Amino acid sequence: MEYWNQAADVFMSDRFCLYRNIAAVIGTAYVLRFLLKKLWALSGGFCAYFLAPWGISRINIKKYGSWAVVTGASEGIGRGYALELARQGLNVAIMSRSREKLEKVEEEIRSKYNRDVRVIPVDFSEGQSVYDDIQAEISDLDIAILVNNVGTGTGNDLFFGQVDPLQHRKVIELNCQSMIQMTHLVLPKMLEKKKGIIVNIASVVNLFPLPLSNVYSASKIFVLYFSTALQTEYKSKGIIVQCNSPGYVATQLIGLKKATWWAVDPVAYGRSSVATIGLQHHTNGCLYHVIQAFIYKSLLGQKTSIIIMQVWGKFKQNWTK
Ligand SMILES: NC(=O)c1ccc[n+]([C@@H]2O[C@H](COP(=O)([O-])OP(=O)(O)OC[C@H]3O[C@@H](n4cnc5c(N)ncnc54)[C@H](OP(=O)(O)O)[C@@H]3O)[C@@H](O)[C@H]2O)c1
Repeated sequence: MEYWNQAADVFMSDRFCLYRNIAAVIGTAYVLRFLLKKLWALSGGFCAYFLAPWGISRINIKKYGSWAVVTGASEGIGRGYALELARQGLNVAIMSRSREKLEKVEEEIRSKYNRDVRVIPVDFSEGQSVYDDIQAEISDLDIAILVNNVGTGTGNDLFFGQVDPLQHRKVIELNCQSMIQMTHLVLPKMLEKKKGIIVNIASVVNLFPLPLSNVYSASKIFVLYFSTALQTEYKSKGIIVQCNSPGYVATQLIGLKKATWWAVDPVAYGRSSVATIGLQHHTNGCLYHVIQAFIYKSLLGQKTSIIIMQVWGKFKQNWTK
């Protein structure tokens, strides 16, 4: 204790006046930088979730081109994005396995918003060969935005060894590989135009490594890291890369046909997510999910969140039976 008192006396003496002032300036600059960064993040969130849904401060996606390309767009979140982008005036190229389901979305977009739709049936689990076909289908389009949405999981509460290795392969093909290959297809033209938008759909499970959903949660942190690094590489070249990490959305993936208090409606989710583009590089898509992510990350922490997510997973399984 005496040692520390002596040290404090020396530091407060006139001899150390200059160092004290330097330390004070560095400390103040650091605190200011911290506060400004927080304020900047908050202002982005405020614009994204309170102003942009009313059209204020939102970017005009039509200025980036006339087409949107959405993978996994025949239902769920992908359909939500496709409908919202059409509502905002873009033509839409939609992809999934089922032509029939895609044609229903096509019909909906044409009748509601009178936009051009290109239906591209494709199975992303078939590997590299499908991308040549996709290239042929989209090469003539002036693409404003690519939404890498297609994705799948491994089911609930299964240990790694209980999952068919082919299903793990499929998760990687859909959640990661399709995102990389689709980005390869659209990026060169976007760079030529010096503008373009790429949105990658991850999941709130990328907050933590999630036991019993190990490959799925790992694939979603892959999406986040890929998006963040890609944004850093191409930001100065006019490309916006956004990662969206949703919480629960009422879709076939989680076995829900209708929105509930804990899972939002996919069309409403598509609308609020599109509003955040250009305002947030990493978003949760809607305010409800931002609050959920904040609770998991900042209030509960990793261990408690994982337990809650697993208990919730069991409850959800029973709920959706
Ligand atoms: N729902 C949630 O709560 C939630 C939460 C976090 C993250 N996410 C992520 O959001 C994205 C979309 O999920 P979602 O809930 O909307 O899923 P979904 O309702 O199951 O829809 C998936 C879409 O992908 C298509 N698809 C599935 N397998 C395909 C394949 N092999 N090749 C081509 N298309 C295929 C499906 O259409 P076809 O059957 O016609 O192929 C459908 O259009 C995923 O990346 C998911 O991980 C969802």
